[in-house]
Amino acid sequence: MAIHFYRMSIQLNRINCFYGAYQALFDINLTCPAGETLVLLGPSGAGKSSLLRVLNLLETPGSGELDIAGNHFDFSRTPDQKAIRDLRRNVGMVFQQYNLWPHLTVRQNLIEAPCRVLGLSREAANARADKLLGRLRLTDFSDRFPLHLSGGQQQRVAIARALMMEPQVLLFDEPTAALDPEITAQVVGIIRELSETGITQVIVTHEVEVARKTASRVVYMENGHIVEQGDASHFATPHTEAFASYLSH
Ligand SMILES: Nc1ncnc2c1ncn2[C@@H]1O[C@H](COP(=O)(O)OP(=O)(O)O)[C@@H](O)[C@H]1O
Ligand SMILES: [Mg+2]
Repeated sequence: MAIHFYRMSIQLNRINCFYGAYQALFDINLTCPAGETLVLLGPSGAGKSSLLRVLNLLETPGSGELDIAGNHFDFSRTPDQKAIRDLRRNVGMVFQQYNLWPHLTVRQNLIEAPCRVLGLSREAANARADKLLGRLRLTDFSDRFPLHLSGGQQQRVAIARALMMEPQVLLFDEPTAALDPEITAQVVGIIRELSETGITQVIVTHEVEVARKTASRVVYMENGHIVEQGDASHFATPHTEAFASYLSH
């Protein structure tokens, strides 16, 4: 008989986040077990990107606590730089605008950080890159520069580059925002494949269909507050009028 216990990958307690005097996140409590694919849904301005950016400390909350991938932060104190670096080794980010280095080829984009940050040898990094290039169907493009790739190809390079660090948690901000339906379907397929590897994924989107196809857990936000959160059954049976109404539009 299998004994189940759930390792929490992500836990936020009473997180408040400000831009100057403007409060973007209010008292956020969130839990996500390891291996889940958590989707953050909500209208524009709800605070989805702010919450995602808190998860790798691109934004520093004014108060509250964050546990992620074995790293703990209490924001009553200023987090130290080493703790932030440790967190970012375990928590990768795929940016909406991809943020690839334009002067490096696809392969160089992949091996740069693992060699420099993890101290991986060139051989080891190239071997890791070859596997990921194959897995993301990019082998033919490894010597191209990002500007000579389509949006969908650049998105796959951005995902491969994040995976090179073998993160425990991978964050995506609007991964399908700029993509046509066929490429969106490819990205959805990649996220679903990754969900079978045990990695924890957090995906910001405002596309309900993308959310339904990828999420094992969902958080619905409005105006800096979490309105509803739970497992994927919430898509079929939302617990709040607000989420039901959002899903029906
Ligand atoms: N760097 C910033 N400076 C000031 N206000 C910001 C900044 N980033 C986001 N905001 C504000 O915080 C709120 C939440 O934004 P965001 O997290 O980007 O929402 P979403 O991703 O759900 O559209 C919005 O009102 C937005 O204008
Ligand atoms: Mg956003």
